[in-house]
Amino acid sequence: MTMPDRSFPTDFVWGAATAAYQVEGAVHEDGRSESIWDRFAHTPGTTFHGDTGDVACDHYHRYREDVALLAELGLGAYRFSVAWPRVIPGGTGPVNEAGLDFYDRLVDELLAKGIAPFVTLYHWDLPQVLEDAGGWPLRATVDAFAEYAAVVAGRLGDRVRHFVTFNEPRVVATLGYEDGIFAPGRHDLDDGLAAAHHLLVAHGRAVQAIRAVAPDASVGIVLDIVPKQSASTEMLDLESAAAAQERHDRWFLDPLTGRGYPPDPPENSWRHLIRDGDLELITAPIDFLGVNYYTRDIVRSPMLPPLPAVEREKTGFGWEVYPEGLGEVLRFVASRTGDLPLYITENGAAYPDHPSDPTHDPERVRYLRRHLAALADARSTGIPVRGYFVWSLLDNFEWIFGYSQRFGIVHVDFATQERRVRDSGRFLEAVARSGRLPAEPSTAGD
Ligand code: FCB
Repeated sequence: MTMPDRSFPTDFVWGAATAAYQVEGAVHEDGRSESIWDRFAHTPGTTFHGDTGDVACDHYHRYREDVALLAELGLGAYRFSVAWPRVIPGGTGPVNEAGLDFYDRLVDELLAKGIAPFVTLYHWDLPQVLEDAGGWPLRATVDAFAEYAAVVAGRLGDRVRHFVTFNEPRVVATLGYEDGIFAPGRHDLDDGLAAAHHLLVAHGRAVQAIRAVAPDASVGIVLDIVPKQSASTEMLDLESAAAAQERHDRWFLDPLTGRGYPPDPPENSWRHLIRDGDLELITAPIDFLGVNYYTRDIVRSPMLPPLPAVEREKTGFGWEVYPEGLGEVLRFVASRTGDLPLYITENGAAYPDHPSDPTHDPERVRYLRRHLAALADARSTGIPVRGYFVWSLLDNFEWIFGYSQRFGIVHVDFATQERRVRDSGRFLEAVARSGRLPAEPSTAGD
């Protein structure tokens, strides 16, 4: 028995994503200042093997080759991020034209090849100077971001049609300020909550700033939504799963969609930071929402004894392979966003390379195929998903995991910077060019 072919409309956007600190390298070039990820990655004990983004994929110099790869793969869009420390090295104040020029060249190169730029303004690399002044828990960082957004949109907005304000503000606030696992490595619940609020207000301010200088551009934000499933039907597990969903997914999606923040314990000290007009700013209409989807969380109450381990399929990174979650996430998001256009702005998987041939990646092909099937099925129920970006175009600096986790549909040899397209790249190319996800025998796990 075979599953039916699934098809996508001709205007469906097929793309690949990267982020500045993960691919650019050239950290000291053309007036770029230090970011919190430079400082953090250079702090001993923070990243795998002490890896840093100093060189990464050298995309700063090799962007033409990388754009040519996108074109070769038939992808119509490239989601990349702008490094704030390149554009305004002091965090606020003078603009560094040389830094901004890089993105100008990148955009022109993309457009020359018919590839639409999707520009993310913030993919985690705050100028260190702003962190030193207080970082995201400080209101002044909101003003600085609005200024930076206006500069980037002012320069690129005549050609860029899609701007994303923030990538995964949840990760910034929680992993960066609350848990201290990511840059800047702070470990304080109230700092995390303050950062979360200021990130959302900064999003609202940036939407205004972008619209003022680039009125034709579409503006959105990217959230990481992870389905939170209760480990059992016990009340404590159900409550824990609901609480995790409130603190992670609804904490951002609800205020953005006019529902305000979910409740939190009165001992948390951050609500005094909410100023008149903040919630209106956060809720100001956007043109699309980006959703990053990789896996799900199965939540067990800390009050209950651990359950026996269940065998589940995992990627090489240890993340469960759970394609159904893509549909679950889209239904959850659409229940709040209605007919707002959605994009899958990241989806992908890291697996160890096959020693004989690192371009042969059947596991990644299978991961992508199953998730694209779930996406097509969600679309067929009317959920308005307009595009799909694989994470990632290239193997790159995977944050605290350094270069140990490879997500690329293109293999990168970090010693030589040679790029080689993987089977998964060819697979995505075939889907993008045909608009069709070929049928697969149902025994393959569909
Ligand atoms: C996401 C990040 C992206 C990448 C993937 C694997 O959370 O946005 O930069 O690290 O995870």
